[in-house]
Amino acid sequence: MQFFCLKLFPLLILSSVSLSFLVCISESVIELPKNNTIPALFVFGDSIVDTGNNNCINTIAKVNYPPYGQDFMGGKPTGRFSNGKVPSDLIAEELGIKALLPAYLDPSLQTQDLLTGVNFASGGAGYDPLTSDVALVFSLSDQLAMFKEYIMKLKRAVGEEQTSKILRESLVILAVGSNDITNTYFSTPLRKFVYDIPSYADLMVSYASSFVQDLYKLGSHRIGVLGLPPLGCVPSQRTLKGGVSRKCVDSYNQVSQLFNKKLSDELNLVNRKIPEARINYLDMYYLLLDLIHHPEKYGFGISNIGCCGTGTIEVAFLCKYTCSNVSEYVFWDSFHLTEKAYRLLVGQILKQYMKDFICEKPFC
Ligand SMILES: *[C@@H]1O[C@H](CO)[C@@H](O)[C@H](O)[C@H]1NC(C)=O
Ligand SMILES: *[C@@H]1O[C@H](CO)[C@@H](O)[C@H](O)[C@H]1NC(C)=O
Repeated sequence: MQFFCLKLFPLLILSSVSLSFLVCISESVIELPKNNTIPALFVFGDSIVDTGNNNCINTIAKVNYPPYGQDFMGGKPTGRFSNGKVPSDLIAEELGIKALLPAYLDPSLQTQDLLTGVNFASGGAGYDPLTSDVALVFSLSDQLAMFKEYIMKLKRAVGEEQTSKILRESLVILAVGSNDITNTYFSTPLRKFVYDIPSYADLMVSYASSFVQDLYKLGSHRIGVLGLPPLGCVPSQRTLKGGVSRKCVDSYNQVSQLFNKKLSDELNLVNRKIPEARINYLDMYYLLLDLIHHPEKYGFGISNIGCCGTGTIEVAFLCKYTCSNVSEYVFWDSFHLTEKAYRLLVGQILKQYMKDFICEKPFC
């Protein structure tokens, strides 16, 4: 199978060309101990981390139009589901790898870009293949197939040995799962009559586990899997299920916590089974919950609605206008965070977990 972008978007090409100038000014924030380098970043997942792969396909889960990207390089919509950078970019930036993580399907991608990593994520995707199918986006198996194709290209560019080294030392991030719960499980009849919540969480975790082991078989050693956010406090879910006062939906938050616990247990197990791998669960639940409950503590003002539209329900093409000061907002639309909030989360997560990717086993 060959993956390529079906349509060329002149705007996208233009923006990507100008972006490459930024690479040289990216500065490492997280200091790695001597003899530890992270030469590349690879990201898999959904709209939290997609940097434009969906621009290439026919799906409503794409955002390559304003107001998305209003604060990105002077206001360029690139397919990122935020006002600016998303976690894939911010992780690459914080690790001093590059300023932005290009989508693998970006038509302007150069061979040189492959060496420091690319992004395979697709907005709307899930652990559950049904989630990706319903949204008509790249499933995790599609994303893995793209990664295999990428590895062949990298081998042609730098040879077998250098390719193995890049794969071994690079960081891989997987960020997916929210759409399975909010879209597939709760909003369609496809799964809820067959699975109760714990067994659906088990199904998701089993996909997560085999995906991580597939990545390992392809040569990746440092793999981080992001847990779920407090889904009940996302503006759209407050509106749909939180009553007139739009409270956080406890039952949804409990699903996030249940899944996160199961995911973290499973990843610990896999990590222990594979001596040369560093496979870590990365929690964002508690930090994001605290940010939502106490936005002022972190320099934000508003956390119960998003910046776009009324803030209560709009996402993607429903976003027509925006708030006056996005810096006050935790949420950009009714589902995704602002760059400012993503930056806070990514900084904390890397600070907390980077040591677990470079430590010496069995002492970690
Ligand atoms: C780093 O690696 C080099 C070559 O493998 C070795 O000579 C050196 O002692 C190492 N330094 C540290 C701080 O581990
Ligand atoms: C926007 O909000 C931020 C954060 O609350 C604040 O620092 C800034 O002064 C505000 N800007 C304007 C123009 O009001």
